[in-house]
Amino acid sequence: MNKFYVKVPATTANLGPGFDCMGMALGLHNEFWFTEIPTGLEVIVSGEGHEGIPADERNLVVRGVRYVCQHLGRDLTGLRLEQTNHVPAASGMGSSSTAIVAGLLGGNALLGSPLNREEILQLATNIEGHPDNVAPAIFGGLVLVPLGEDGACEHIEHIPMPTLNAVLVLPDFTLFTADARAALPTEVSRDDAIFNMSHVALLVRALETGDYQKLAIAMQDKIHQPYRMALIPGMAEAMSAAKEAGAAAVVISGAGPSLIAFAPSGLSEIGDAMMAVYQAHGLTSRKWLFATDDIGSVVQPASAPKTTSV
Ligand code: HSE
Repeated sequence: MNKFYVKVPATTANLGPGFDCMGMALGLHNEFWFTEIPTGLEVIVSGEGHEGIPADERNLVVRGVRYVCQHLGRDLTGLRLEQTNHVPAASGMGSSSTAIVAGLLGGNALLGSPLNREEILQLATNIEGHPDNVAPAIFGGLVLVPLGEDGACEHIEHIPMPTLNAVLVLPDFTLFTADARAALPTEVSRDDAIFNMSHVALLVRALETGDYQKLAIAMQDKIHQPYRMALIPGMAEAMSAAKEAGAAAVVISGAGPSLIAFAPSGLSEIGDAMMAVYQAHGLTSRKWLFATDDIGSVVQPASAPKTTSV
């Protein structure tokens, strides 16, 4: 039976000063199994947030499969998708990007893999609208996505990087990206633009060399974080608590509401310090400890079906 396993990493976009123009893959993955079946659509979702994920054509993974089929002018007889999520939705960890990328990669694999990763990225960007999560989800490591006058991505630069250790804390608080973007001013001052440019340049160097001391200087931002902090009770205090507990740097992950802190050690304690602040603000929270991911998405033939085939 034509069956493939696809694993896609969570991602963290922005990384402080790199608002909308960079993202990095994290060592936490969503898993997917794609099988071409004689007819129809079967979707089985398990894991993180499974109850809120549609098991029909509205499923983002299925939409990715359909999109790649349409792009290639081909079709599958039928599709079974098995999806096990580990990345929470609406968290700032690129969960929807994992679904889009998986659907495109799974559909492409079932059709004989005619598309390469660059072509998959183009399709993923068409669907997602922005490449700062989908690009690192595909390639792993650090990915730079400079945007042109029209807001479209002009170039993709994949930068392999040494492993960095991080802790991410997600307050139990829903913050949609659209709302997090609506809080931002449409113009920034020259001083703030220069501040971000000067830090993002150092940030690339710090990440590609895995230098926590440089990260401490580089991960500063004046373009999006100051405006977003007002949306999340306790966020500024949680960032201070992380630093006091030994974090080299701490930033909003993507559009939030999670915070991600980087440090060579002591990550559990850093996460606990952030969680204690949220608790004082009446918010429960969860933490994840992980290393960064330099591999990106994995696609491989799945020899044995995950569930009993019909
Ligand atoms: N860069 C986006 C934002 C999130 O901060 O709004 C990920 O696309």
